[in-house]
Amino acid sequence: MTVEPIVRTAVVGAGTMGNGIAEVLATAGKRVVLVDVSSSALERGMQAIRDRLRRRVQKQRMTAEEMKQALNRIESSGDLSAVAEAQLVIEAVVERLDVKKSLFAQLDEIADLEAILATNTSSLSVTAIASATKHPERVIGLHFFNPAPVMPLVEVVHGPLSEREVVDQAMAFVKEIGKDPVKVTDTPGFLVNRVARSFHSEAFRLVGDHVAEKQQVDRILRAAGFPMGPFELQDLIGIDINYAASCSVYEGYFHDPRFRPHPHQRQLVESGALGKKTGRGHYRYE
Ligand code: NAI
Repeated sequence: MTVEPIVRTAVVGAGTMGNGIAEVLATAGKRVVLVDVSSSALERGMQAIRDRLRRRVQKQRMTAEEMKQALNRIESSGDLSAVAEAQLVIEAVVERLDVKKSLFAQLDEIADLEAILATNTSSLSVTAIASATKHPERVIGLHFFNPAPVMPLVEVVHGPLSEREVVDQAMAFVKEIGKDPVKVTDTPGFLVNRVARSFHSEAFRLVGDHVAEKQQVDRILRAAGFPMGPFELQDLIGIDINYAASCSVYEGYFHDPRFRPHPHQRQLVESGALGKKTGRGHYRYE
């Protein structure tokens, strides 16, 4: 496994998380290849990065020259073979095990043999994703939080087959890019998303039991010191993404009733009101 400093990276998936992670890497001085199957998603992702960096320049949190250099470090591509030179590949595509497994099987063939392959999954088994490769020892989870450029925490997830050296190198890398790494074992929901299941499902039950309206729940929890209430947080995360996390933690613990999703979560997903990204979720957005 590589012990050289990681300078060449790739991010696969240019959506909410992928473009945020690419920005974090580029502003930390790393070269990034951002890949997506959809050219419009790729363009939206690049535009989101440009817009956020421009706002940072306006707020005098970075210079125009630093913005230019960061943008120059990012290359976008619709072709997965663009990851071939990367020393670290971070996958941030849709939260579906079949899609991730098939992607990791391809990455295993395309990426340099010394490269670390990381998944940003929020709740799927890193071990199951790694099983699609011939080298599961180089597969780990690097779970960034939303919004990636702002949230300091990154869960560094190791499965039973992840090599210790790989995990240690990933811990050091996360620190180097200015984030706060925590090492966690590969269990359903890891640490944060496991605790967060009760936060979200109890909020649905409060509303279902007519204890309070959604707006009141959000307002009261903010007043109690939480940075966001559960419903506004779900709108930010994506109601579909949060529901997928609920389902996979529930499955992962063999239908333990503590983790049972609420039927209203599924209904919202079925309605297509997925939160901020669709302009409508628990709340409406312009
Ligand atoms: P998203 O739906 O915003 O973006 C996913 C992107 O992946 C889309 O642009 C899509 O075109 C692309 N894609 C799909 N299949 C692909 C493939 N085979 N190759 C290349 N690109 C492909 O999703 P989001 O929210 O960014 O989530 C991505 C991952 O990050 C998921 O695993 C999710 O669980 C995880 N995550 C999400 C968080 C959130 O708050 N949204 C927080 C932390 C992790």
